[in-house]
Amino acid sequence: MQASADVNRRIARITAHLNPRTNNLKMEGSSNLRLENCRAKGGSPGFKVAILGAAGGIGQPLAMLMKMNPLVSVLHLYDVVNTPGVTADISHMDTGAVVRGFLGQQQLEDALTGMDLVIIPAGVPRKPGMTRDDLFNINAGIVRTLCEGISKCCPKAIVNLISNPVNSTVPIAAEVFKKAGTYDPRRLLGVTMLDVVRANTFVAEVLGLDPRDIDVPVVGGHAGVTILPLLSQVKPPCSFTQQETEYLTSRIQNGGTEVVEAKAGAGSATLSMVRICSCQICGCMLTCFERRCWCH
Ligand code: NAD
Ligand code: LMR
Repeated sequence: MQASADVNRRIARITAHLNPRTNNLKMEGSSNLRLENCRAKGGSPGFKVAILGAAGGIGQPLAMLMKMNPLVSVLHLYDVVNTPGVTADISHMDTGAVVRGFLGQQQLEDALTGMDLVIIPAGVPRKPGMTRDDLFNINAGIVRTLCEGISKCCPKAIVNLISNPVNSTVPIAAEVFKKAGTYDPRRLLGVTMLDVVRANTFVAEVLGLDPRDIDVPVVGGHAGVTILPLLSQVKPPCSFTQQETEYLTSRIQNGGTEVVEAKAGAGSATLSMVRICSCQICGCMLTCFERRCWCH
């Protein structure tokens, strides 16, 4: 009797990965979800994260990293193509987060309901000769639709916008949320970490140091001259010649174009923005600047 109950439980768990029981998700409620209530079926407490554009060049490695993150209990992978394959693949990783896949706009609301964090790399990337602004016509509409879904299904979620042009997609998201009455500037973030990662790498190359020991603040936006590396504020303190300053500023501001040209039509950067550190206390994986994980 006990053995057959165990088998049934195991089968139900596998089925949940392949055919997400989205009705259950809806019952869990969206807007007032609290971390302590956030319990995956058979999994540990943690954050519920959705990736929109999960089958793409950024979406797939990002999904892998989220599945590796011990703070994530539920991972929803949404795209207009290929999510069944990506979901099956990622769901076999032996980490705690329960992975569910969602395909096409009719499943967008199910993908979003109950989420704490929504990360958006959905949209088209640049080809050589294009600026990020050339992506506006396509990506603005995609971001608008996705954000309308967020304001309806998880209005309290933190939203990370990766889709370019970030300088424009963030204001678009803000306007969608304002219209819906759900705008909170503390919860809407454009992802520009890549500029910091590049700045650390290029400055370390010039100084002959380990990039992990360098911290270059970068302010402004995420396109050309709006990317402002503060080379006078580098830690550890250092100075640059005029020639070095000009070289570094130009290389950091044009890092995206450097990758687009090297990929020669196959897309833009998809891997370099990853930043993994570990908690100094428990060794827990971190994907941020902090030296300690949220448990400490
Ligand atoms: P990609 O083409 O490999 O992947 C994009 C994914 O979005 C695809 O799987 C596609 O099916 C999906 N998609 C398209 N329309 C969608 C919709 N309506 N709903 C859901 N998903 C949809 O592109 P990529 O290399 O992953 O880049 C994605 C975006 O990120 C681009 O706009 C790119 O410019 C931008 N980007 C930003 C940064 C940054 O640092 N902010 C860095 C690199 C790339
Ligand atoms: C980058 O900085 O690499 C991204 O914004 C992609 C691009 O188009 O440059």
